[in-house]
Amino acid sequence: MALQSDYEKAQIRNMVQRAVKCASEGTTEMTPEVYRLPIEIYSPTRWEEEMNAIYRRLPLMLALSCELRGNGAYKAMKVLDVPVLIVRGDDGRVRAFVNTCTHRGRALTQTPDEKGQCKNFTCPYHAWRFSTDGKLQSVSDPRKFGEVDKSALGLRELPCEERAGFVWVCITPGQTFDIEEYLGGMLEELACLEADKWYLLGSQQLESGNWKIAHDGYLESYHIPFLHRHTLHPMWKRETLTSVSLYDHYGPLPYGPHQRMAGNAWGYDPALMLKMKDVPESEYTEHHFHAVRTLFPHISISAGRNGGLVSQLFPITADRCITVQNHVSTQNPDDMTEAEKQTTQKRIELYAAVVRDEDYSTSFSIQEGVRSGGIQELLFGRNEGGAQNFHRSVEHYVQAHRKSQANA
Ligand code: FES
Repeated sequence: MALQSDYEKAQIRNMVQRAVKCASEGTTEMTPEVYRLPIEIYSPTRWEEEMNAIYRRLPLMLALSCELRGNGAYKAMKVLDVPVLIVRGDDGRVRAFVNTCTHRGRALTQTPDEKGQCKNFTCPYHAWRFSTDGKLQSVSDPRKFGEVDKSALGLRELPCEERAGFVWVCITPGQTFDIEEYLGGMLEELACLEADKWYLLGSQQLESGNWKIAHDGYLESYHIPFLHRHTLHPMWKRETLTSVSLYDHYGPLPYGPHQRMAGNAWGYDPALMLKMKDVPESEYTEHHFHAVRTLFPHISISAGRNGGLVSQLFPITADRCITVQNHVSTQNPDDMTEAEKQTTQKRIELYAAVVRDEDYSTSFSIQEGVRSGGIQELLFGRNEGGAQNFHRSVEHYVQAHRKSQANA
């Protein structure tokens, strides 16, 4: 599939020039210095601080637009301790609410992680009914219940924005955000994906250690020829054991916080990158420009216009994080042949196995290492610029939160 927009053409030209330069010099894009992180930043106290400074304050990408296809489509989920209900209203607008009935607090869905389609929500406890825009429509047996002001008993709304096929929500009521300012140039990157045309083929959940340890693996290609030596490495037909990655960042901070790690679709292999210089510009395809885009603080998008993999990281405790892997495609699963469905299922299982058995099993091992007393700090090399930017961003938001708490 040919790349189309002028923006994309400019990106691929730029990427090929940078990749070929790195590959021919036998190097990759590098930061000025090695970055060091003290192991204390993995403590439970620090985790609490990160949740308050980051997950409870910043917009989180909680849903793909394709999960909310059609008016009345909804998705319930829990983020930290907050039950969230996201729904597309009769006016086509996506809104988010705290999933808590204003009578006595029960969730409006049968289960905390339910998806479905409805005309309104009826609380399972005493059957109060709410519209998809959060208004209280009816109180059961109202004459016996007594006088209440229904207009003041709507669901508690959460800040929510839908853009470019993705839905952002802040899980703290009353907190505001400007999604354009927060994403900066990443919005244009996301627009290239045309994610509003995707379908969700399947999702699954994987468990890892600390959220930052899990996140690091999405931000460098240095580990690919080693950790994935027997899985992705042969599949991508790589010719070398080194990697070239190109890092760009977007957003309000000097280092992001959103990032694009680019290479080619053959596992960031410099030998294969060198061959790109012989490809005429008119023949560039997605294979010549593969990018993993990360949306701070918790999303990795390894996808092109045809779809791919969108991973969402949800911390549970300092030592535990759940990743939801979403496989997306422009192909409607209802139109797939049996053979296509089987191929899709195999791909879903392969990516779950690689991440679970290789990346996330490594995250548990790192966590033990951090607690072992064997090391005092973790090192992020000059070739691991994405992870460096991620940790600088975490630090920025923690420090900003500390300052605002001190001034409160
Ligand atoms: S708690 Fe919802 S109707 Fe009573």
